[in-house]
Amino acid sequence: MMSHLAATIQQLATKGKGILAADESAGTIGKRLAAVSVESTEESRRAYRNLLITTPHLNEYIAGVILYEETLSQQTLDGMLFPEKLKNLGILAGIKVDKGLIPLENTNQEQVTQGLDGLAERLIAYRKLGASFAKWRAVYAISEGTPSSLSIKTNAEILARYAAICQNNDIVPIVEPEVLIDGDYTLERSAEVSEKVLQAVFKALFKHKVKLEYIVLKPSMIISGKQCKTPASVAEVAKATLTILRRTVPAAVPTINFLSGGQTPEQATAHLNAMNTLSPALPWNLSYSYARALQEYPMKIWHGDSNNISQAQAAFALRAKLNSLASVGKYNESMEKEKMQA
Ligand code: 13P
Repeated sequence: MMSHLAATIQQLATKGKGILAADESAGTIGKRLAAVSVESTEESRRAYRNLLITTPHLNEYIAGVILYEETLSQQTLDGMLFPEKLKNLGILAGIKVDKGLIPLENTNQEQVTQGLDGLAERLIAYRKLGASFAKWRAVYAISEGTPSSLSIKTNAEILARYAAICQNNDIVPIVEPEVLIDGDYTLERSAEVSEKVLQAVFKALFKHKVKLEYIVLKPSMIISGKQCKTPASVAEVAKATLTILRRTVPAAVPTINFLSGGQTPEQATAHLNAMNTLSPALPWNLSYSYARALQEYPMKIWHGDSNNISQAQAAFALRAKLNSLASVGKYNESMEKEKMQA
């Protein structure tokens, strides 16, 4: 019989499907809801996530949904626990298990991710609630002196310890090193930093005996900073990202699912598509694990009003469909125009 880890990764790496990150912490979802003038309450968060998860045809594009702890034990409108609802749809439930960022002392405002204490015990409880994979995010800001080698090494070590604990508790870890998009840095600088970060992550994963066959890598794309005066083109981003991934990510990793990191929804789709059209063939599945690039439009349309649910769900399903096409290199920009006219 296939092991639990093997069955989980096989499903997460399904060609043409991606992962929905709906695991914003209470603080982050509060900010996103405030931006559309909705008060963040347990009920408004439940209602919004209910909207996402009950979107018709979601299972055609999404293999797994990352949830926040609160949502794991909340119910959909028809009285089912969220993980149970997902299971009925053939979608896996995942759980964000890190406990956010704290300062990495004696650095220039760099940060490290906390949450290893008691992680094994929490994973056992999350499994009982229906989670079969987990997520942990490390962040790296680019500035003149950062990321420092101390931050790169420390975050890699912690990511690897998290991944090992997950696998030993039958949970597939999503390993997420995020190089932040903020700054005026160039594509070349992003490539240089990302290469160092990924190298350190895989070195630590090896040291901690993490089985690469049972992880999802969730990196940022190699992209020029948001304030860069000479932004890189879609083709340049795709080429640079693949160059760095080929140098650093072993072929044993089954699937790489990018984060969107503050790119526009259209950019995130176009970049993914461009990578999936470059040859030669890639050693890994290359897909998405987006939060903002999938949720931006549905959240704006919903606006906290139940009358807008079906329109918001249609916008979400469309974004999921376009990214699904991008994950097999079959998206083109004219599909965005069709949407505008619809
Ligand atoms: P974004 O796609 O909005 O970057 O979020 C992905 C994620 O899960 C961050 O941890």
